[in-house]
Amino acid sequence: MCGIVGYLGGKRDIKDFLLKGLKELEYRGYDSAGIAVLQNGELKICKAVGKLKNLEEKCKNVKTEGFGAGIGHTRWATHGKPTELNAHPHLGEFSYVVHNGIIENFKEIKEELEAPFVSQTDTEVIVHLFEKNLQQGLKPFEAFKATIEKLKGSYAILLITKAMPDTVFYAKKGSPLIIGRAEEEIFFASSDAPLIGYAKEVHYLDDGEFGYVDKEEISNWKEREKKEPLFQPLTLNKEFAQKGGFRFFMEKEIYEQSDVITQTLMGRAKDEAIEFEELEHGFFEDIQNIKICACGTSYHAGLTGAYLLERLAKIPCSVEIASEFRYKEPLLSDKTLFIVISQSGETADTLEALKMAKEAGLKTLAVCNVDNSSIVRLADRTILTRAGIEKGVASTKAFTTQVAVLWMLALYLAENFDKKELEALLHLPQALKVDDALHERLKRLSKRYLHGHGFFFIGRDIFYPLALEGALKLKEISYLHAEGYPAGEMKHGPIALADPELFTIALMPKTLLYDKVKSNVEELSARDSTICAVSSEEFELADDFIKIEPQNHPMLEYFSMSVVLQLLAMEIAIRLGNDVDMPRNLAKSVTVE
Ligand code: F6R
Repeated sequence: MCGIVGYLGGKRDIKDFLLKGLKELEYRGYDSAGIAVLQNGELKICKAVGKLKNLEEKCKNVKTEGFGAGIGHTRWATHGKPTELNAHPHLGEFSYVVHNGIIENFKEIKEELEAPFVSQTDTEVIVHLFEKNLQQGLKPFEAFKATIEKLKGSYAILLITKAMPDTVFYAKKGSPLIIGRAEEEIFFASSDAPLIGYAKEVHYLDDGEFGYVDKEEISNWKEREKKEPLFQPLTLNKEFAQKGGFRFFMEKEIYEQSDVITQTLMGRAKDEAIEFEELEHGFFEDIQNIKICACGTSYHAGLTGAYLLERLAKIPCSVEIASEFRYKEPLLSDKTLFIVISQSGETADTLEALKMAKEAGLKTLAVCNVDNSSIVRLADRTILTRAGIEKGVASTKAFTTQVAVLWMLALYLAENFDKKELEALLHLPQALKVDDALHERLKRLSKRYLHGHGFFFIGRDIFYPLALEGALKLKEISYLHAEGYPAGEMKHGPIALADPELFTIALMPKTLLYDKVKSNVEELSARDSTICAVSSEEFELADDFIKIEPQNHPMLEYFSMSVVLQLLAMEIAIRLGNDVDMPRNLAKSVTVE
């Protein structure tokens, strides 16, 4: 995920602060970086692809001592490849901008502007629009205001311009931005870490806040009103700051889901239809069936996607584990669309499966989180999940964003669908929000699930792959044995294991096959298995009950339950004293067979 830093002052070397600040943001992941400084009417800029040492090398002869304004950025590519031209800051004639987020209407704005665009990014429109507003006679702050009023989507923006030197303009909506201050110095950053050791106190900007800082003041606004910033002391613990105050990156990433899903939906889930700027309907012509191929958590997302593609798009769909697919000598038809799903885009088995499909002449589509990864480069088309970098080895936000993309794809391919699907999609950020009371309850509940001879996660329909995912999450970080099973299949064998030391985590959605699952759980309860039910409706036979908010769509229940299963696994693992972010024997990117 991209990172931003900014500075106004003269007490230190601006370049030095910007580079150090970007270093603190490295943990967010990036593939290019850049800085720009405006001092004594002169603009200096450096950009580089790859690691920050490349940027340091590029600007080693640039001198930035004395008073001035500076902005810096690490970019994690979403629109356009990681190249120097696409790296921020983006340049107009006499202004520079850095931006995190996605400008949803950048194409429309681009069409209205006559400026020469040099990058493939959505960000570049901001600086050209700002300069056009200036040319039309607006004062710099008015021009900035008019610019952000026109932007749809999410953003954290810093802009510097010769039209008003010694000033930094800023705006925030949907992407984080913080202002820090010390005597005669102002700092900006997208998280606390770069500010520690520099700023004494910070103001966490709210969505909709914007303004400018200059030598005299911080002029902070929300909508049409001036708003005094609420400064508070800054934490001194860098690691704590990088984790956003959470105990583990996994926990941070679970909490982030509600926000990142907004990015996943942005520009795609429209009022009436689903649109993917990266696809054209012609690409799917002649497709008679779909094969999905992936590993681990991504495979579970694929299994869920197959239910949705068949049910909504009415296209037959099968799912294969990539490591199995490779050696089974599969019969492939060129009427099959081959979809690979991968968080990292580097998983060796998935990549090889993709190569096989391409060699067999199939159309290929990647659902991936990392632009420019090997899988993205190889596939005919890609839909990026836009989850931002995932640091926890146990996948959380990558999974939910994959499922959201597959749901949208199913609707995109459907001839028609009920409007309720779109309403439900737009409700996803809400469904993924972590409820503090629920988290507290899971923390307490976890102490009862530290022993036993195993866990069965059970569910039906789309809740069966979710059960598989819940079991995988638990085993990889707690090292307890867990299996996911179709609820209706327990009586065909596994029920023989039932006793009080067998923990059944029962996924009981109210909106899908509730009575069927209920009967299956009753069978287990009658054999004395310990039942932990996850549902919006109280279940009298449950030994433990985890209540989710009632929802009116199975997918919303699915996403709410995903959060429950992730938190439950994490709390059990924490109680067992495990390193949740780096479980034993596992790697984040599996580039070997
Ligand atoms: C589990 C997990 C793994 C990955 C799998 C595939 O939490 O993260 O099971 O899902 O290794 O990785 P990607 O999605 O990068 O291809």
